[in-house]
Amino acid sequence: MGMKATSVKGRCFNLEDYDTTYKSFNWSEAEKSFSWSETGLVNMAYEAIDRHAESDKRNKVALYFSDKDRNEQYTFQDMKDYSNKAGNVLKKAVGVEKGDRVFIFMPRSPELYFVLLGAIKLGAVVGPLFEAFMEAAVRDRLEDSEAKVLVTTSELLGRVPVNELPHLKHVVIVGSGVKEEGLYIDFYKRMETASEHLEIEWVDREDGLVLHYTSGSTGKPKGVFHVHNAMVQHYQTAKWVLDLKDDDVYWCTADPGWVTGTFYGAFAPWLVGATNVIRGSRFSPEDWYQTIENYGVTVWYSAPTAFRMLMGAGDGLVTKFDLRSLQHILSVGEPLNPEVVRWGKKVFDLRIHDTWWMTETGAQVICNYPSMEIKPGSMGKPIPSVQAAIVDDQGEELPPYHMGNLAIKKGWPSMMRAIWNNEEKYESYFLPNDWYVSGDSAYKDEDGYFWFQGRVDDVIMTAGERVGPFEVESKLVEFPAVAEAGVIGKPDPVRGEIIKAFIALREGYEASDELKEEIRLFVKEGLAAHAAPREIEFRETLPKTRSGKIMRRVLKAWELDLPTGDLSTMED
Ligand code: WT7
Repeated sequence: MGMKATSVKGRCFNLEDYDTTYKSFNWSEAEKSFSWSETGLVNMAYEAIDRHAESDKRNKVALYFSDKDRNEQYTFQDMKDYSNKAGNVLKKAVGVEKGDRVFIFMPRSPELYFVLLGAIKLGAVVGPLFEAFMEAAVRDRLEDSEAKVLVTTSELLGRVPVNELPHLKHVVIVGSGVKEEGLYIDFYKRMETASEHLEIEWVDREDGLVLHYTSGSTGKPKGVFHVHNAMVQHYQTAKWVLDLKDDDVYWCTADPGWVTGTFYGAFAPWLVGATNVIRGSRFSPEDWYQTIENYGVTVWYSAPTAFRMLMGAGDGLVTKFDLRSLQHILSVGEPLNPEVVRWGKKVFDLRIHDTWWMTETGAQVICNYPSMEIKPGSMGKPIPSVQAAIVDDQGEELPPYHMGNLAIKKGWPSMMRAIWNNEEKYESYFLPNDWYVSGDSAYKDEDGYFWFQGRVDDVIMTAGERVGPFEVESKLVEFPAVAEAGVIGKPDPVRGEIIKAFIALREGYEASDELKEEIRLFVKEGLAAHAAPREIEFRETLPKTRSGKIMRRVLKAWELDLPTGDLSTMED
């Protein structure tokens, strides 16, 4: 039972004949659009901004930025000038060179994007950090990456343990009344005198671009390393999947602290020269609809959690805004419920197109294209020339309707190139026959559509954010009253999953609601708000293996009233 594409007809980059393109497409076709196909040297920021500033798109709006205090617009020429200035601040005041890690820890603002692009122009590897991170999360990432420079705001500076980070040479502060002493550099003061001319550092397509930290089921967050070559896939999916054409106004709601916010909130739309809307401030349904109306957004990329929250705000609200500009809606991050797709059809008269990918894949991989028939609940089909399959643990392909590992054949352009400082972890993603194993389980139907089933590991997806249970457990046991903690994702109608912690208390502590609240606050302040358990349950003991590993599988079974399965490794 498919839904036909009605409302997207006539858009430019429809992938009319999927099967033919799938077989015949060659990435070198996409590369022809870039100047580096001639020179052999690249810089993503040049292709995203300067190339357009040097064309008849010079005066086209590249960025509409708004939050509760600001409302600004910047052309491609402006973006070129400001990112050059920011690049010069990093080069002159701070001495940033090719390969240096420059981390950016600040809320969305135009300056964030000037710095991001300016650092890339110098050949630096950028690491955007989510503004909600607390001290421990910031420290882990700066420590592991050995970041040389951090760009942050006066407000967030208190969460940066500068004295514990020997590799950190400079902290560039975006704010007012900044005192330049020690490591501190005043961003605005330096911008005033910085030149608009910057010598771009031309790099190899395999040179570093971005480090995005993400969570697994064990250990600390790991640095997923991407290179400039990823832009080939960002560019091509901006055409095939985002379906961006010249007069589109595009809005991706993700924060650049997550991979969607950098690759599809900045790089992909700019690589094709589209007008990009970036909205700061917190989520509010009125605000979001108003943003679409104000800018005449035509293409909108968001997440199931957000759509569910909008759905919860009521259909009446939708009719208060003029949303007729919308032509194409996409979703990523978690399973997109068929119910949400039906709601989208009802209130926007548009289909919501699900897309599947991960931090590690670096770009969209399995998608519902505008031209394609949609099966609500399915993630769609692989993008042309990328091979996806369902395989067993040995890498043998499974027939249709068999559930197994969702895997991708090594070699797509935007694939991560390393896990920072962790070769072993990187290798562990791949089977001997070159399948990259995603950690998701899924099946494929006879038409080649993929259907998401769940995570193979214990990773939690809450409100579209990926949280490793181990990280939360480690924080929990730092709390004096907590002896042991086990953390699981509990199904939730709005957030997909919420974080639930099972806790065994130390001797002498009494279970109480106040204690739960204190524990929650401790994680919130020590790690990040989105990592704090929404539910806490105290238990005398937690189920463990004989080697002492907490059995999250058993906790989950308890929670969901499911059979606990094999308990042979559990301690008595
Ligand atoms: C995990 C990756 C890069 C996108 C943002 C999340 C889940 C992602 C879907 C989808 C069902 C999805 C998977 C994946 N996921 N898209 N369309 N349907 N699940 O990136 O933080 O690296 O998380 O998000 O479980 O493995 P991420």
